[in-house]
Amino acid sequence: MVNYKDLGLVNTREMFKRAVAGGYAIPAFNFNTMEQMQAIVMAAVETKSPVIMQVSKGARNYANGTILRNLAKGAVEYAKELGCEHPEIVLHLDHGDSFELCKECIDNGFSSVMIDGSSLPYEENIALAKRVVDYAHQFDVTVEAELGVLAGVEDEVAAAESHYTKPEEVIDFSTRTGCDSLAISIGTSHGAHKFTPEQCTLVNGVLVPPPLAFDILHEIEKKLPGFPIVLHGSSSVPMEEVNTINQYGGHLEAAIGIPEEQLREASKSAVCKINIDSDSRLAMTAAIRKHLAEHPGDFDPRQYLKPARENMKKMYIHKIVNVLGSDGKLAQ
Ligand code: G3H
Ligand code: 13P
Ligand code: ZN
Repeated sequence: MVNYKDLGLVNTREMFKRAVAGGYAIPAFNFNTMEQMQAIVMAAVETKSPVIMQVSKGARNYANGTILRNLAKGAVEYAKELGCEHPEIVLHLDHGDSFELCKECIDNGFSSVMIDGSSLPYEENIALAKRVVDYAHQFDVTVEAELGVLAGVEDEVAAAESHYTKPEEVIDFSTRTGCDSLAISIGTSHGAHKFTPEQCTLVNGVLVPPPLAFDILHEIEKKLPGFPIVLHGSSSVPMEEVNTINQYGGHLEAAIGIPEEQLREASKSAVCKINIDSDSRLAMTAAIRKHLAEHPGDFDPRQYLKPARENMKKMYIHKIVNVLGSDGKLAQ
């Protein structure tokens, strides 16, 4: 058994309380590689922001759970080395799909887990989430559960259609599961292709997607005052990264994300955790493609991973400062 407290990590409880009260959101960045971890830590330290580093089942399959946990342990030490005396770093399991996976992570140094039973029938979702909560809380590990379904396809996360969260279910769900935060579905989705061009309106040459269902978010807030709400699928898919990828040999068509103004608005509400993965993938790929196209003789991975890391760091800082507002929000 490895307890997260021995690794210098923290759970989400206190940071969420402060974020809901303060009208900002904590960034939850996915990571699969050392360069992503370094970029996340550099950005969090520079901006004095709490941060959630999250690992999906696909990340564990790619990089190995033990390695990722030790990267997170290294992240805490690295943050201190960079001058942050009291970093607040959460190691979170993203989209855990079984009790066994959540237990394995809790037993191995994770400070927070998500149990994603959103595709199950309502009562089964409750039963599974409650089982995870009962186990996790013995070790002071916080639990995110989900109600409603997000569309989108990634390695291990797939749903063809989205179903908005029903506000009339949230009190019953959160009370009976005992979860610490609730992921909801209000129009975001996973991946870099969140909307088709047909769903969007052309404004000054830019495709603007339909707005998120803020009415549903506000109804949920009324039912659960002060309760931490989580938004998945919140990449904005910056056009400049997509254009760079396409300019240097990539082929990304109709990549459309969530406009940042809408995330800014959501951050001011009870939404206190915003999940971003695809934007990091785009920032990394754009920088690597550009570097290799401009330096065809380079073959040392450090030559192209360094600009990739810089580009991700820049993106993370931008999200923290200009979108989520979590800069300067460390407890001490
Ligand atoms: O929401 C899912 C995350 O973006 C992780 O994606 O399963 O491809 O690692 P992944
Ligand atoms: P994006 O694909 O929009 O980055 O969403 C990531 C996510 O929700 C991780 O759980
Ligand atoms: Zn997600």
